[in-house]
Amino acid sequence: MGNWVEVSASDLYEGELRGLEVGERLVLLACHEGEISAMDDSCNHAGCLLSGGWIDARKAAVICPCHEYAFELRSGRNVTRPRLCGDQQSFPIRVEGGRVYLQIEE
Ligand code: FES
Repeated sequence: MGNWVEVSASDLYEGELRGLEVGERLVLLACHEGEISAMDDSCNHAGCLLSGGWIDARKAAVICPCHEYAFELRSGRNVTRPRLCGDQQSFPIRVEGGRVYLQIEE
């Protein structure tokens, strides 16, 4: 079980992708349809930062800017066909009193 870490994301706006450093990790925060989600920002295909990509609303996925693979925002699941790389690690999010917390292993 990881620790809950507060991240500065209360100002995240609809449709935003934001890259953060959390300890040694690069984490992508996204806001889609009012829901905040988090996954590893470094794409497991070739390491590009997903925070430089965009959201595909139809797939509810982030699209990597390098080779346009799609990862589902809620789960980090690779929803690209054909699947040429794995899923992204996703992180649980908790919103409490306007503050955003991320569960992450240090
Ligand atoms: S680096 Fe992300 S799809 Fe290739």
